[in-house]
Amino acid sequence: MSESPEQTHVVWHDNTISREQREQRNQHRGCVVWFTGLSGSGKSTLANLVDRLLFQRGVQSFVLDGDNVRHGLNASPELLASHGDSFAQRFGLGFSAEDREENIRRLGSVAELFASAGVVTLTAFVSPYRQDRAMVRQRVESSGGKGTFVEVFVDAPLAVCESRDPKGLYKLARAGKISHFTGIDDPYEAPQQPELHLSAGTQNAEDLACAVVDFLVQTSLITKQSE
Ligand code: ADX
Repeated sequence: MSESPEQTHVVWHDNTISREQREQRNQHRGCVVWFTGLSGSGKSTLANLVDRLLFQRGVQSFVLDGDNVRHGLNASPELLASHGDSFAQRFGLGFSAEDREENIRRLGSVAELFASAGVVTLTAFVSPYRQDRAMVRQRVESSGGKGTFVEVFVDAPLAVCESRDPKGLYKLARAGKISHFTGIDDPYEAPQQPELHLSAGTQNAEDLACAVVDFLVQTSLITKQSE
């Protein structure tokens, strides 16, 4: 049974500088733009294109990328081997449903901290389970308010992702050398009501990145650029 913070005697301290003060200084809101989709759908490319556009507008933004975070915070048991077997097994994360749940729980928490620091936080994780994404939405909106979690479905058909296969992982999965591969022998639960649904199999990435920035302006998360 999990213990609540009260049971573990952990007490919340408010920061001296509030989120509102940071947002006021930045002239935009802190929020989480959550890109979800199959491996190879273009999440990282898109998040980085949006990051560049925001950087050029003077917006404080940052990309959290699934592959990168799995090199550090959410390393695999293999990467943690130097800490000993039991540590590596306890804290290392792979791709089972439970490991992905913990991956997304930790990253949702990190993303929420970034948003609280006033940053437009762009995340690129497969995040295949609806329930896991819903938990992050709840967490982000409970601190930042409704509208501060923007779910972006990067929708590219499996056949397109597989033909791109930028890391050669689909080939390995088809050959049975990787198991639990999303779209092959593991599920992907598409968002039912994402804030943005992008056709990433047909439209070019630059146009899609502009559509994301336009959405952030329309919803007043960032301001319209002065001419
Ligand atoms: S998530 O499902 O837990 O959200 P995450 O986004 O962190 O996944 O990592 C996905 C990346 O790990 C993919 O882009 C791919 O490069 C790599 N990967 C390795 N094994 C798998 C797997 N079994 N399923 C999906 N992606 C995998």
